[in-house]
Amino acid sequence: MPELDSPQRQAPDSLMLTGFWYRALPADRVHRNQLHEAVLLEIPLVVGRDRDGHPFALRDACPHRGMPLHCGRFDGENLECSYHGWQFDAHNGQCQLIPSLTADQNLKVERIYAGSYPCEEQDGFIWIYIPDPAPPGAGFTEPQEAPEPAPVIEKFGLSREARYKLAYLTADMPVSIDHGIIGLMDPAHGPFVHQAWWWRSRHSIHEKTKNFEPIPNGFRMSAHTPSSNSAPYKLLRLYANADSITTTIDFTLPNRRSETIRAGKYWFSSLTTVTPITRNQCRIDVVAAWNIFRWLPFGPALLKFVFAKFVEQDRHTMELQAEGLKHNPHLMLIDDADRPAKWYFQLKAAHLEAKRTGSAMQHPMPGPVTLKWRS
Ligand code: FES
Ligand SMILES: [Fe+2]
Repeated sequence: MPELDSPQRQAPDSLMLTGFWYRALPADRVHRNQLHEAVLLEIPLVVGRDRDGHPFALRDACPHRGMPLHCGRFDGENLECSYHGWQFDAHNGQCQLIPSLTADQNLKVERIYAGSYPCEEQDGFIWIYIPDPAPPGAGFTEPQEAPEPAPVIEKFGLSREARYKLAYLTADMPVSIDHGIIGLMDPAHGPFVHQAWWWRSRHSIHEKTKNFEPIPNGFRMSAHTPSSNSAPYKLLRLYANADSITTTIDFTLPNRRSETIRAGKYWFSSLTTVTPITRNQCRIDVVAAWNIFRWLPFGPALLKFVFAKFVEQDRHTMELQAEGLKHNPHLMLIDDADRPAKWYFQLKAAHLEAKRTGSAMQHPMPGPVTLKWRS
């Protein structure tokens, strides 16, 4: 008997995990000396670049009386609130000036902070680290450091961008983070949602067996040869002249799916994230890097077209799903096709439990697992 389980029973309702890096904005949309609004985990942010081009992120609310800071002026170094002109260092949020103070008033301006967030540019995106909720006393809270650098896409030793191509796609999804993520890892929707003559049809559905193994904070679909019935893989095999093409797919908390395909010396690598914007809204960002078809002028355009089609199909599906979810229906997860979704909920619960108790995280997978489904 396949086991039935409801997503609601597995984890707190669409809880958004703090203490992780999240993608905020495509880097090419953030320009020097300009202020941009962004929302991550229901936190309003103002994002910009200083005059050297380094990105920064502050809470988009002045610690004085809450004015959105993106309404203020930015001189490439300090941000000036539009209400009473307080000035803040764009990187650490420290208050630099309160214009209303007289010479004999000794308020310690430097003890005041507009909340700031660790911010990095990586693989075409501005990443922001969202720490665990800061202790009370906001306004006097010094910036926190991120415990690790922002995630990077695997590039198999290539560090110079001239050697590989990079492209991104982004789409808003009107569903909670949990539905966004389980949609991302769901193998059974492929034949129904992602039909295309050059990819596959619903008639190509067949039984698949995949091996999974636990990895820190997530799970891995072990290296395997991709499905042989799809045209791109056939093409890739011819082009790369490699006997074997292997692909590895990892999911790690809070929201990352990385996929690498290798064929001889050629590779294609992607890092997809589903980012919680609000409780009922998320955004999918796919960033891919590859050294295949690098010198073909239409390579990136073609790849972008293929991915854009997939992402649009997923987005459209979730838009329709959001209609159905409005009335809070009873939902279920079945074995084996929804087992990765179950692991996601279990990982999330285990992560929260480890944080609560301060003990090491208990991984929900005891060891390697083989799953079977038809897709
Ligand atoms: S609200 Fe920002 S300076 Fe007063
Ligand atoms: Fe999909």
